[in-house]
Amino acid sequence: MTAAIISGKQVAEEIRQGLREEMERLADKGFKPGLAVVIVGEDPASQVYVRNKDKACHDLGYYSEVHKLEESTSQEELLALVDKLNQQDNIHGILVQLPLPKHIDEKSVINAIAVEKDVDGFHPVNVGNLVIGDDSLLPCTPAGVIELIKRTGLEIAGKHAVVVGRSNIVGKPVSLLLQRENATVTMCHSRTANMKELTLQADILVVAVGKANFIDASYVKPGAVVIDVGVNRLENGKLAGDVDFESVKEVSGPITPVPGGVGPMTITMLMNNTMIAAKRLSG
Ligand code: GUN
Repeated sequence: MTAAIISGKQVAEEIRQGLREEMERLADKGFKPGLAVVIVGEDPASQVYVRNKDKACHDLGYYSEVHKLEESTSQEELLALVDKLNQQDNIHGILVQLPLPKHIDEKSVINAIAVEKDVDGFHPVNVGNLVIGDDSLLPCTPAGVIELIKRTGLEIAGKHAVVVGRSNIVGKPVSLLLQRENATVTMCHSRTANMKELTLQADILVVAVGKANFIDASYVKPGAVVIDVGVNRLENGKLAGDVDFESVKEVSGPITPVPGGVGPMTITMLMNNTMIAAKRLSG
């Protein structure tokens, strides 16, 4: 039997609807969440992401600032802008689009963002809070992954979750969030010796390796929930996930497509984080 498709587009729209309702409540108080997005240089993919973030703010009625800086911008100039945004009362979230040009040290820039305005959840203090289970701004894509799993109706507690990929922005935080939901978590990566043996035990399989169609049906336990975080551009120009959707959907349980799965969740969770940060900052 073919599996149910988890529509990230639909879940994202439901969350945005909740944010719109929240905006109506805030309008009575004359208050708007504000997001500042900073982009350095001309990377075409980054420009698209930044435009989409700005558009999402406008759609919801948030205040939005986009700062486009030249490729030649110095680290000091960028840090000075971050410092100014940290102090600006109408800005509750700050996102510096990555990657940055090579002459700028990404870590120094992330560390300079005020912890309470770090809507990416990349600041080491927010990462640390995630590890110890304290309240923090959660990284957007991992938070979106958990939301999608929950919306399938599956009880995460007690399940065996296998995460393939150990990146700082997806694999590691997803595994921590799944543990927080009381799953038993196994992490696989490029040096894992017996990957198929492990993925075949997964009730929940999350894949984030950046390799098109890396996981086929032979890796998947019948009925498992499969979340595909990969976005890979094929030679024919089409997008493919890390999971071979056509073969896997014949054995899995609910599964996310690419595009239309995890992708639409990321910006929505950014909007959610900006709302959370705004409410905390405004007391
Ligand atoms: N570049 C690609 N994805 C992201 C993201 O989630 N946050 C930031 N800041 N840069 C990115």
